[in-house]
Amino acid sequence: MNPYELRKDFPILNDETLCYLDTAASSLKPRQVIERLDEYYEKYGVNVHRGVYNLSYVATEMYEEARRKVSDFIHAKFDEIIFTRGASSALNLVASSYGLNHLTSEDEIIVSELEHHSQVLPWQNVSHITKAKLVYIPLDSEGRITVENVKKVLSNKTKVVAINYISNVMGYITPIKEIISLAHEVGAVVVIDAAQAAPHKTIDVVDLDCDFLAFSGHKMCGPTGIGVLFGKKKLLDNMPPIEFGGDMNDNVNLYDASWKDVPYKFETGTPPISEAIGLGAAIDYLLSIGLDEIGKHEFKLKEYTVKKLKEIEDIIIYNESAETGIISFNIEGVHPHDAVSYFDGDNICMRAGHHCAQLIIKWLNVVATLRVSFYLYNTIEDCDRFIESVRNARDFFKSVGF
Ligand code: ALA
Repeated sequence: MNPYELRKDFPILNDETLCYLDTAASSLKPRQVIERLDEYYEKYGVNVHRGVYNLSYVATEMYEEARRKVSDFIHAKFDEIIFTRGASSALNLVASSYGLNHLTSEDEIIVSELEHHSQVLPWQNVSHITKAKLVYIPLDSEGRITVENVKKVLSNKTKVVAINYISNVMGYITPIKEIISLAHEVGAVVVIDAAQAAPHKTIDVVDLDCDFLAFSGHKMCGPTGIGVLFGKKKLLDNMPPIEFGGDMNDNVNLYDASWKDVPYKFETGTPPISEAIGLGAAIDYLLSIGLDEIGKHEFKLKEYTVKKLKEIEDIIIYNESAETGIISFNIEGVHPHDAVSYFDGDNICMRAGHHCAQLIIKWLNVVATLRVSFYLYNTIEDCDRFIESVRNARDFFKSVGF
């Protein structure tokens, strides 16, 4: 893949001074996706599943074609794909529907300190309500989830294992296939947060045998406001809806009602139509490049950048061994928010803070980290600009006595 050619697809990169290193928060959007959104709004901007007129049929077809693209993308079945507002809503749906209805005080839910808040807080809520016990996988010395450590907490009491595929702070790839297999041996279901994986690597839910998997559109060149929940059909069939209203029901009586089949019983109200269609275009775009190529490119940039960062004094890197394109680091003695403001002065966009994952920040025993995250449009020149800015920031803050 040629990032220099790909950059031409991203209108925002017409500003050649922009150095965008915050894809883990949200990716930039290519014109192929923007044009698809425009097409929907210009030619078919009506509701789906309701109108008995041609425009609405066409809009419905486009929306459902997007579901087909998503299901093919992760090798799922068409009706195992639920469109949500984002990955967070998808993970909340599993906790509120599956968790609250299947767990009791006898049960345990396994999570880790490496999770995004969206994969911990919904399960804390389930634990508070059902009294099921929340159990944390001990992380290894690098802060990774390992198969060995999962074995230490897994038991016949485990009913749910809720973990990430790739950490948004450390960029580690979790060995989920082995963990899923072990969890199934004790009868637990596994919920995977794939928000940082879907944009960068091929996912096959059949091969993984995972029970639920969530990701969002906006981190993978798609629009904001769209997420995906994959669930095995037999599990989804036995889960109640958590939101009620238009389009999710069959027959409505005075005191009860019945629901449509999955996925529609989980998609009440007017769905994110243009967002789903835009996500379909993003999937076409990524597949035309090759997900594994994208992942390899990011990793190369990360390796190059880590090597250069290590040549600068006072740099602390927290995830040197990451297999992906994420670097978490700090400049010793400099608050990450001060550093990131300095980088902004050089038109370098990156994130500082706890990255919605306070548990791993506490585990690292720091107040926050700086985070660089690469994508298909980043180049060696971006890395060099960033490294120069880090060097200058370090010298500046040291010179003023930080
Ligand atoms: N969860 C996103 C991040 O890691 C927003 O930055």
